[in-house]
Amino acid sequence: MPEFSRTLVTTALPYANGPVHLGHLSGVYLPADMYVRYKRLKGEDIVHIGGSDEHGVPITLTAEKEGIAPGDVVDRYHRMNLDAFTKCDISFDYYGRTSSELHHETAKEFFLDIERKGIFRKKTEKLFFDPKAGRFLSDRYVTGTCPICNNPEANGDQCEQCGTHLSPLELLNPKSKLSDATPELRDTMHWYFPLGRFQPQLEAYVNSHEQEWRQNVVNYSRTWFRQGLGDRAITRDLGWGISVPLESEEAKGKVLYVWFDAVLGYISFTKEWAEQQGSPELWKEYWQDPQSRLIHFIGKDNVVFHTLMFPAILLAWNEGRKEGIYNLADSVPASEFMNFEGRKFSKSRNYAVYLGEFLEKFPADTLRYSIAMNYPESKDTDFSWTDYQNRTNGELADTLGNFIKRSVDFTNSRFQGEVPAECTADEWNALGIDWQETLGQLDEAFEQFHFREAVSAGMEIARASNRFLTGSEPWKAIKIDRDAAAKTMALSLNLCHALSLVLYPVIPGTCNRIHAMLGFDATIEELFSRGKSLLDVLRDPPLKKGHRIGKTSEILFAKIEDSAIEPELKKIEKLLQDAEKREAAAVEERTEFKPPITFDDFLKVDLRVAKVIAAEKVKKAGKLLKLHLQVGSSTRQVLAGVAKNYTPEEMLGKNVVLVANLAPRTIRDEVSEGMILAVEGSEGALFVIEPVGDEINGKQVQ
Ligand code: 2FM
Ligand code: ZN
Repeated sequence: MPEFSRTLVTTALPYANGPVHLGHLSGVYLPADMYVRYKRLKGEDIVHIGGSDEHGVPITLTAEKEGIAPGDVVDRYHRMNLDAFTKCDISFDYYGRTSSELHHETAKEFFLDIERKGIFRKKTEKLFFDPKAGRFLSDRYVTGTCPICNNPEANGDQCEQCGTHLSPLELLNPKSKLSDATPELRDTMHWYFPLGRFQPQLEAYVNSHEQEWRQNVVNYSRTWFRQGLGDRAITRDLGWGISVPLESEEAKGKVLYVWFDAVLGYISFTKEWAEQQGSPELWKEYWQDPQSRLIHFIGKDNVVFHTLMFPAILLAWNEGRKEGIYNLADSVPASEFMNFEGRKFSKSRNYAVYLGEFLEKFPADTLRYSIAMNYPESKDTDFSWTDYQNRTNGELADTLGNFIKRSVDFTNSRFQGEVPAECTADEWNALGIDWQETLGQLDEAFEQFHFREAVSAGMEIARASNRFLTGSEPWKAIKIDRDAAAKTMALSLNLCHALSLVLYPVIPGTCNRIHAMLGFDATIEELFSRGKSLLDVLRDPPLKKGHRIGKTSEILFAKIEDSAIEPELKKIEKLLQDAEKREAAAVEERTEFKPPITFDDFLKVDLRVAKVIAAEKVKKAGKLLKLHLQVGSSTRQVLAGVAKNYTPEEMLGKNVVLVANLAPRTIRDEVSEGMILAVEGSEGALFVIEPVGDEINGKQVQ
C-alpha cells in the first residue's frame, strides 16, 4: 500500500428522522473514530467528516406522521444525534447538515455540470398522482397489495413481507399514504443518471481494489455489474429537498433524489470544515490531491451508493476536466450488522438501544470497548447486556483499571510519586511483550480495519502488565530489595503509559485520565498533534527516572452490578414477549379461513400441472425468478417470488401447480402469465407445491 500522508474519513450520514442506536455505532461511527484516533496518534494528517442526512422521504413521512414540518424533524434529530455522538467521544472534525446553504449550492453545482455535459437522460414516465393532495407520489407514499405474496400492506418500493423490490405500479389496489385516495397515473418528467455509461470505468475501479477491499464490498458491487447498470432517476416530485436548479417549467416542484445529494454532503461538509479552519480552499487537498487517501465508513446496506453511485457522479464531474478532479474512495470498509440480544435492531418496533439513552445510564468508554470487541467486520455479531457487564467488570475494571491504580498508588505511597528507576530497552522488551512485533501487529490491525484484533492486542498488553506486577510482588520486594521494587514500579508505570496510548483509540476518555494520573498536563491529543508517533514513543520505555506522576489515583471503571442491568433485561423480555405475541397473532390469522365459496366458484380457477423448462433471475428483483413452463403442448412465462429459497438451477425440471387462467400482469417490465402455487415458511420464504406422478404434465389439478 502506498504511504499517504493525508487522509479524509467520511461516515455515512444518518437520516435525521430518528435517534441513532448501538447498531449504527458498531458498524460505522465507532470503527471510524478508532481509525481516526489511531492515525492521529501516528501523527498523521486526518480529517473526519460526518453529518445529518436531512432530505428524502423518510423525513417527510415522519413529519407527516407527527403533524409537524420536516424542518422541525431534522432540527430535533440533528441536535439529538450530534449530542449523542459527542457524549460517546466520536471525534468528528466537522458534523454538517445537508440542509445547509453551502451543501445546496454544491449539489446544484454538480447537477448543473452533469446536465451541461448532456450526460443525464430525461424520461417521461407515468407516476401515481394523489388527486386529493394534489401531489405526485414517490414510491414510499404508495401502499397496496404485493403482487408476489399478497401482503396487503406492501410499500411502493418494497414488500416487507417477501422482500421483493417493487415499483408502485406493480402494487394491486394502490392507495396514497397521504390521503387514502386511489392514485391516478399521470405523466411526469425526470432526470436520470445513466450509470451504465460508466460501467466499464466502475468495473475497472472495483477490480483495482479487489485485493484489499472486503469481500462483501466487492461482491455486492459485482452483483450489480452482472445485472448491468441501468439509468437511475435522480429527481423526485417532492416538496422537501434541493430544488432542481433550472428555471424551466419541467423542473418545477422537483427536487434532487436524496441519495444524489447525500453523498455530495461529504464534499460540502469538508468545504464547511475548511471555512471553519479559516482556510476555505483547504478542502481541495483532501478531495483533489491524488496523494490524499479517501475512506468511506458505511454499513453493508449502503455499499452500492458508495462503490457505484457516488464514484459515477464524480467520474461524470471529472469528465473533460484538467483541473479540479475528484479522487475516488481508496477504501470502503462496509460493516455487517450488529444484532441486539439475538435479534435485528428495529426502529419501527422500538427494538433498539438508543445511543443517547444508553449514555445517560452508563459511561461511554465501557460501551465503546464492548462494542469494539463485537465489531461486525465480516459477519453479523450480537450485543448483549451480559456480555457488556462481563467485559466491563472483568476486562476493564479487574484487569486494566486495577493494574493502573495499583501502579500509581504504590509509587505514590512508597516512591514519593516519582518514577523510581531508569529502564533499559532490554528490560522493556523482557516483559513478555516484543514491542517491535506488538506495535507492528497493532499497526497492521488498525490500518486494515481489523478493529477487534487491534483492541484485543491492547487488552493483551494489559493482561501481561497485570501478570508482571502481580508476579514481581513489589510490596514484598520493597522490604528486602528496594532497587528491585523500584525497577518493577518503573516498568509498571511505563506500561501504564503504553496502555494509555495503545488503548486510546477505543477508550479515549479513560486513557486521558490515565495520562493525567501519570502526571502529564497536556492531553494525549495535544501531545500527538502532528509529527510525533506512538510507534516511535513506545519502542523504548517512555518515562524517565524522576518523572513525577500525579498525586492521586482514581477508580477508572465502576463495576456494573446486576441491579443496574436488571431493568434493561426486563425491558428486553417485554419487547421479546411483545414480538412473540405478534408472531402468535400472525399464526392465528393464518388459521382464520376465508369466507366460503361455491363449488362453481372453485371450478373457475384452472389449476394445471406444469414443468419448469427454463429459469433465470430477474434484474434488480432479488426475490423473483423468471420461469418458463411447459403446460401440455403450450409454454408460459411466469414470475415467481421464490428466489429466496431456490436458485434457477434448483427450479429447473420441477413440477409445479400453475394458476393457468389468471389475467397476465406486467412485473418489472416482464409479463407474468399466471402464477405458481407456493406456501410461505418463516421469514417470508416461499416453498413451491410440487405435484408428484406419472404423465401429469398439463393435467388439471382438482
Ligand atoms: O442509510 C442511511 O441512513 C442514509 N442516510 C445514509 C447516507 S450515507 C451518505 F450518502 F451520505
Ligand atoms: Zn410480498
